[in-house]
Amino acid sequence: MKIGMDKIGFYTPHLYIDMNKLALARNVKPEKLTIGIGQEKMAVPPITQDTVTLAANAALEILDEDDKEKIDFVIFATESGIDFSKAAAIYVHHLLGLNPNARSIEVKEACYGATAAVQIAKGHIALNPESKVLVLGSDISRYGLNSPGEATQGAGAVAIVMSVNPRILTIEGPSVYHTEDVMDFWRPLYSDTAFVQGKYSVELYIAFFQNVWKQYKDRTGLELKDFEAICFHLPYTKLGLKALRTVIDEGMDEVQKRLLANFEISRRYNKVVGNIYTGSLYLSLLSLLELNTDIEPGSRIGLFSYGSGAVGEFFPCIVQPQYREALYKAQHAKLLSERREISISEYEEIFQTTSLAEVPSARFPIEKDPAAICLAGVNEHKREYVNKVN
Ligand code: HMG
Repeated sequence: MKIGMDKIGFYTPHLYIDMNKLALARNVKPEKLTIGIGQEKMAVPPITQDTVTLAANAALEILDEDDKEKIDFVIFATESGIDFSKAAAIYVHHLLGLNPNARSIEVKEACYGATAAVQIAKGHIALNPESKVLVLGSDISRYGLNSPGEATQGAGAVAIVMSVNPRILTIEGPSVYHTEDVMDFWRPLYSDTAFVQGKYSVELYIAFFQNVWKQYKDRTGLELKDFEAICFHLPYTKLGLKALRTVIDEGMDEVQKRLLANFEISRRYNKVVGNIYTGSLYLSLLSLLELNTDIEPGSRIGLFSYGSGAVGEFFPCIVQPQYREALYKAQHAKLLSERREISISEYEEIFQTTSLAEVPSARFPIEKDPAAICLAGVNEHKREYVNKVN
């Protein structure tokens, strides 16, 4: 049975900052951020966007009536959720008017969460081939103003409809994974910004990639030459390149050239959005599929997922014959080009007034946010959302 991704949606807030200007404000050379870190722009979420609205906006563009009827499982992956108890998936289920006869849950393992969700969805569909699953990966990455991780923040969500006979990609086996109890990045319950041992996290990310890549080769006998491209979790885009470079010599010249060229394409969206944590790998996949028009159906793409703490996984996908027609390339180009640049001082003000810590009661200026689905306010500790297209 062929199971995989039938549609992939994406949403990021309408505001961003330019990394050259952030570098100037922080007194570092712009090339450190644009080349050394590999980021050009960073998405900034206004008070009217949280992880629920980002995910709902990502899904809104891709769901039709048939999806709404057949989706019987909503899996919301996030590490910047809004409630320790109620699943964010339930809010999205309501905002999108999905079939009430559905399961809705939230899953967490740092940036690995969306991959866990994709694999859970695959298992569910294998047992229930008539069903569709909505996988959401949505996050707001916060390290703090003037912190070493500041340039690696971002905000956004991906929404993936999974089904049998998918039009974009099938998810193949074997999947190989690795877990180790490490403290490279974490966020205790009392903090709305992440704690991180930056250099250590980079070492672990690369070691986990090497571990799962070796496991994969040992189990399958496949090599770099068998892959059209490898997409990486991209907390910042230089890191995927650093990981790829550690194995690139295993391939002949033409394989190296292909993988490096495709890596460049796979990081374009991430370069102008920033780290969206659990959605980052799938944003990179989208960047590759939407911006490289030469990828042939039948090509094998490897996906490396990493979530601090830490879990790593590597698995292959096969590009399907109708993938081009199933993508939302024009919508994503429009979404990215219509964003508005804000100054560093505006970003700092927004950062300080948008905390994951609770606001007891407030109304928010949804008229300033072009998104269809917004957070309108908080009333007696309950978040109130609006879908302006209803
Ligand atoms: P830093 O210490 O400010 O930067 O923090 P650096 O000194 O390491 O420099 C970064 C790069 O810029 C280096 O390149 C420099 O050489 C280069 P590299 O050696 O790595 O190839 N550089 C320049 N290049 C060109 N021109 C120049 C110049 N100057 C310097 N003039 C760090 C960097 C990543 C540590 C920091 O941003 C950080 O802590 N970020 C947050 C943590 C992070 O993203 N870790 C990634 C792995 S963990 C992960 O992926 C999981 C995560 O997504 C969370 C989750 O799972 O939920 C984070």
